[in-house]
Amino acid sequence: MGLPATIVRPGLYKEKTDTFYRDVISGLRSVPKRLNSKYFYDAKGDKIFQEIMNCREYYPTRCEMEIFSKRAAELGDALIAGGDAFDLIELGAGDATKSSHLLKYLLEQKADFTYLPIDISGNVIEMLNKTLPDRLPGLKINGLNGEYFDMLKVAADISNRRKVVLFLGSNIGNMTLEDAQAFCKKLREHLSEGDMVLMGFDLKKNPRTVLAAYNDSEGITKRFNLNLLERINRELNADFHLSKFDHYPVYDPETGACKSYLISLEDQEVTINNRERIHFRKDEYIYMEISQKFTLLQTEQIADNAGFKAVDCFFDSKKWFLDAIWIAE
Ligand code: TRP
Repeated sequence: MGLPATIVRPGLYKEKTDTFYRDVISGLRSVPKRLNSKYFYDAKGDKIFQEIMNCREYYPTRCEMEIFSKRAAELGDALIAGGDAFDLIELGAGDATKSSHLLKYLLEQKADFTYLPIDISGNVIEMLNKTLPDRLPGLKINGLNGEYFDMLKVAADISNRRKVVLFLGSNIGNMTLEDAQAFCKKLREHLSEGDMVLMGFDLKKNPRTVLAAYNDSEGITKRFNLNLLERINRELNADFHLSKFDHYPVYDPETGACKSYLISLEDQEVTINNRERIHFRKDEYIYMEISQKFTLLQTEQIADNAGFKAVDCFFDSKKWFLDAIWIAE
């Protein structure tokens, strides 16, 4: 049996900080400069992201919420129909608001399952382990704090039951199309024939609608991006001046790629941990994040290439978002 990931091993904190440090330095030493968007989600980042999800322009959460709140029964029946008792694994569970609808339905149906939320944020997992069983009496939960594939291995060690993997919120869009394809192949390798995936995709739509979601009028998304610099200041002892960076989002309707950059407003040098000096030219950018938008056909091709069969499609009423059910072949 694998090590329960919720138990903090001695030295784990240092290990995490070291990886963060290495990733930040190598990203800022790259040409062009980049930062990994998985580091957006520290305690403060989690809070700002909640604000993003509640803001007027950010539609993906509301669209997917509509699917989960109105069609939990259909989603649940499709997952139950896949076979016997199962482990319901959620990659990047967040506050599990969407999946709660599904969990509730599955409990009502007396489906035999354990919920294994996986999240990179320790805060998130702690909260879920603590609060979900109160909200959903009878729920068996075992939250796993760590990287997706490491924790999928832990999940496989915990039980050999059928796996159903939730990957919601168009988290898959946080990769380039090429990486998304590779990710789905790797996901397939961690699963067995007959296992299922329920994956959320943000679909292509009016470019202005997409861009506005990453450029909200209150500047929440800007704060979210800048918070990563602040986190580097805080945790890695750096001296970024946040006011010397601007947030610049773009959306390309042709490729479906929505990207966020931070632009250096002047020639400047930033020191990290009294050791690493990073130079920024005026107008130089840091590539922060991609949010890929898909066509239905693209999602089917991704499934197919990765060794899954796309068996079911659930859209919101505007058809802006898709939750697809795939079966591992
Ligand atoms: N990546 C998520 C999305 O595409 C969350 C997100 C929204 C985000 N706005 C962001 C991530 C800005 C980084 C920067 O919807």
